[in-house]
Amino acid sequence: MRKHISSPLECGDGAWVPLAKASANEVVVLGAAKNFQTARSPKDLINYGHTGEKHYGFDSFEGLPEGGPNDASWKKGQLAVPLEVARKNLSEFAELCVLIAGWIPDTFTAVSDKRFRLVHVDVDLEVPTRQSLEYFYPRATDGALFIIDDYGFHSCPGARQATQEFLAGRPETLIELTTGQAVFYKRGSACS
Ligand SMILES: C[S@@+](CC[C@H](N)C(=O)[O-])C[C@H]1O[C@@H](n2cnc3c(N)ncnc32)[C@H](O)[C@@H]1O
Repeated sequence: MRKHISSPLECGDGAWVPLAKASANEVVVLGAAKNFQTARSPKDLINYGHTGEKHYGFDSFEGLPEGGPNDASWKKGQLAVPLEVARKNLSEFAELCVLIAGWIPDTFTAVSDKRFRLVHVDVDLEVPTRQSLEYFYPRATDGALFIIDDYGFHSCPGARQATQEFLAGRPETLIELTTGQAVFYKRGSACS
């Protein structure tokens, strides 16, 4: 079995923290909906090496909640995918994937004792984006990768605002991708 690719990451001051350091930890997708399609899929996990971690997927499976003033493109209930559909799509990977149905952030208690090496935030709206970052940042390992799926989309200014506010005053550097996503690595203690 192959190991995770241990791409190093730069801390900005010349120190490097290997991503592999975090590789025995879990993966979480906030906004799991159909099949984690916008996250690193369970299939890739199997193809490229699996160290035994679980993929936790949080979603209401009732679509979006009411948004705030920065979420005007969206309506309550949009993007709903029934839990049974998600379960069916992931049935091949049932042992790897744990779907947790309900409203963020109430459901986060299900993983309060876990640590994460990859946090994929794909909830479109301002408040759940902020709540996801606030909950998972302290539970992310040094060097953990955060993906903010909606950061660059015109339809998701709330997700962008929440991310910018969250990172203000923190040492991480946000990298904007041409796909519309943005990513940052949690700065490790070796960097401070
Ligand atoms: C763009 S979709 C996610 C797509 C998913 N990543 C995929 O690949 O299939 C956004 C999801 O966020 C969920 N969501 C947004 N706010 C939420 C909240 N407060 N609690 C639970 N789910 C939420 C919605 O139900 C919706 O399924």
